[in-house]
Formats: sequence, structure tokens, C-alpha cells
Amino acid sequence: MKAIVWDGEQAKVETDVEVRDLRAGEVRVKIEAAGLCHSDVSVLNGTIMFPPPVVLGHEGAGVVTQVAGDVTNVEVGDHVVLSTLGNCGQCAQCDRGKPTFCRQSLGKLSRPFTRGAGEDTKKVFQFANLGVFCEETVVKATQAVKVPDDLPLTAASLIGCGVLTGVGAVFNRAKVTHGESVVVIGVGGIGLNVIQGAALSDGLPIIAVDTNPTKESFAREFGATHFICPDGPDFDLVAAVEEIRPNGVDHVFECVGSTALIRTSTDLLDWGGNLVMLGVPKMGSEASFVVSTMYNDKTIMGCRYGSARPQYDIPLMVELYQAGRLKLDELVSATYPLEDFQLALDELHEGKLARGVLTLG
Ligand SMILES: NC(=O)c1ccc[n+]([C@@H]2O[C@H](COP(=O)([O-])OP(=O)(O)OC[C@H]3O[C@@H](n4cnc5c(N)ncnc54)[C@H](O)[C@@H]3O)[C@@H](O)[C@H]2O)c1
Ligand SMILES: [Zn+2]
Ligand SMILES: [Zn+2]
Repeated sequence: MKAIVWDGEQAKVETDVEVRDLRAGEVRVKIEAAGLCHSDVSVLNGTIMFPPPVVLGHEGAGVVTQVAGDVTNVEVGDHVVLSTLGNCGQCAQCDRGKPTFCRQSLGKLSRPFTRGAGEDTKKVFQFANLGVFCEETVVKATQAVKVPDDLPLTAASLIGCGVLTGVGAVFNRAKVTHGESVVVIGVGGIGLNVIQGAALSDGLPIIAVDTNPTKESFAREFGATHFICPDGPDFDLVAAVEEIRPNGVDHVFECVGSTALIRTSTDLLDWGGNLVMLGVPKMGSEASFVVSTMYNDKTIMGCRYGSARPQYDIPLMVELYQAGRLKLDELVSATYPLEDFQLALDELHEGKLARGVLTLG
């Protein structure tokens, strides 16, 4: 089958990829659509160190084609959104509703794919427990969350990372509430979902920040009340935010992955405010802040995958979408066949996309 494989130097479509037979507790999913998140790009540029060869993609939706004998949560033919967690569903952390704390959910690299035949057979990893830039993948049944058959899978795929991460960070981590002020730095697929989560939570104002001026219309469409476009390295973001909120804001979401922006974000906080770090800088990076600026009950939070509980939050996102309150279709700026992966990357870098989606159906 076809898949986008990163070999450590380049990522391109390979046609000789196979996925192994099911083991207990697993399901096989035919991928219909897969969004391109910056975390995939971060594998290519070394920001996220993931061993090659690897099938990329971690934001996908599709149709279940086979289930292991012990699987009961989904059936063949079910439409599913895939979660990247791969949590066990059985440990203390899973049981207390914190699947992102499950030790099975991170760092257990799996290699269900192969390339080549006979003695030349080489195992291939799946990125983020998924590897969805391919026609078919094998995942734990706990990662497959059934969604209604009439939900467009192109839009649904984005729930799997961008929506859960962005909206989840607002609902589950920062817990933004009525009238709290919000700054969102970086208006990509993650930032847009923070903006729409903040709008759903009645945050006000919602100030979006992006160095790319074309992001203003996306930001406002998703609920931003203000847009700031820093026009160079000397731009004073603190002064620009203080013009809107002289004492700073209640919540800052860093959605770029820049240690300089993490530092600036701490300077944007009002007393009692909190910073949620969503962006992923290069592994091993250190960030700094002025300790005395933090005494007024300010908080810096990490947040993985929107602190999501996929079996709860994915159906919630579907319900919000069906009620006309969550934008999914508007997130899909363009669709591409697998062969146009490079074009999708280029258009992401050019800032043309809310999200680009690879379609395989
Ligand atoms: N914490 C998590 O669980 C999680 C999940 C998914 C993605 N991420 C991370 O979130 C980050 C964003 O991902 P994305 O898919 O939204 O990326 P994206 O490429 O779609 O968007 C990034 C945006 O940041 C803007 N930007 C770049 N430099 C900037 C600057 N100096 N100031 C203001 N804006 C700037 C870009 O113009 C772009 O609009 C990445 O680091 C990604 O790895 C984290
Ligand atoms: Zn992602
Ligand atoms: Zn667990």
C-alpha cells in the first residue's frame, strides 16, 4: 500500500508498505482523511526526534476494516476518529480520567509497518502511535472512537489532534470562563482551535497574535476579537497587548513552540494569570522567565494533547459540531492526494492553511 515514509532524510510516498496482522486488543482502520499538523513537520526538521523509518501522520479518521476477537468497542464498518494516545485504559491514571498521564501513552514506539520482502524486510515505525499518512493502519482499540456515519471524515480527522489539543487546552487545562481575557500566539491549526474553544467558553477579549498577516481573517472567523501582527523582531508585543488590557490577560496560549515567545508570554500575564505551553520547541530546549514577575499567583502549565480524554472529548466535539457551535469544515483549507504531500508542506509553510488534509478515500 501507499504511505508517506520519512527515512531520516526525506519524506515521500512509498508504495511497498505493509501493515502487520492484528494482535489482541487491536483494530485495522482504512484511513479516509489525515490532517497535516506542525508536529509532523517537526519530525522532518529534527525539532521532534523520532527514529526513522516512520510512517508520518497522527490526525486521522477512517473506517474500521477488521477487529481482533477481544475487541468490543468498535465493529467492522464503524467510522472512527483516531486518538494518538494509545493509553492502556486499565492503569490508575486511565481509571482516574487522566489518559494523557498513562505511561503506556508516550514513548512506547511501535512498528506495525514493513517495507521490502524476504531477508530485506525492514520494520517501519508509526508516528505518535498512529501513522495515518497511509491507506491502512493498525491501532489499539482504545484509540478508535466511533463517530456518526454522516460526519464528513475530512473534517472529522482534525478532531484527532488539532481540535482536541486546542479546544481541550481551553476546556480541560486552562478552564477559561466567562469574560476572562485570552491571548493566543500562533494562529495555525492549534491556535485556531484555542481561539474557538475560548469563544465557546465566553472568553473576552480573545487576542490572536501571528507574524503572518493573512492569519487575521482565519483568527476572526474562529472568534478572535483582536489581531496583532508583530512586524519584526523588535516588535513590543507586551505594549501591544497592554493597549487592549493594561494589566495583562488571564490566559496566554503559546501555540508556536518558541522559547522566546514562552518568555514573552509570562510578561503578558495579569496577576493570577496562567500560561499554557502548547507549542513544542526542539527537544532539550530551556526557557526562562523573571521569577519576581510570577509571584502574583501566576502559573505556567504544560499541556499534552489538550489534556484530553478521547472517549469523552471526541464525542463532545462531534456534538458541538452537529449543534453548529464548533467549526470543523472551516478548518479544512485544502485537500491533497497523498502524492501531493510536498505541496501540502509548502502551503503550510507559506501560511495558506488553517489545516491541509490528505485524503485517501
Ligand atoms: N501540546 C500538544 O499536545 C501539541 C499537539 C499538536 C501540536 N503541537 C505543537 O503546536 C505548535 C503549532 O502547531 P500547528 O499545527 O498549529 O502549526 P502551524 O504551522 O499550523 O501554525 C503555526 C503558526 O505560528 C505562526 N508563527 C510562527 N512564528 C511566530 C511568531 N514568532 N510569532 C507569532 N506567530 C508565529 C505561524 O505563522 C503559523 O500561523 C507546534 O509546535 C506543534 O508541534 C502541540
Ligand atoms: Zn498534532
Ligand atoms: Zn493507562
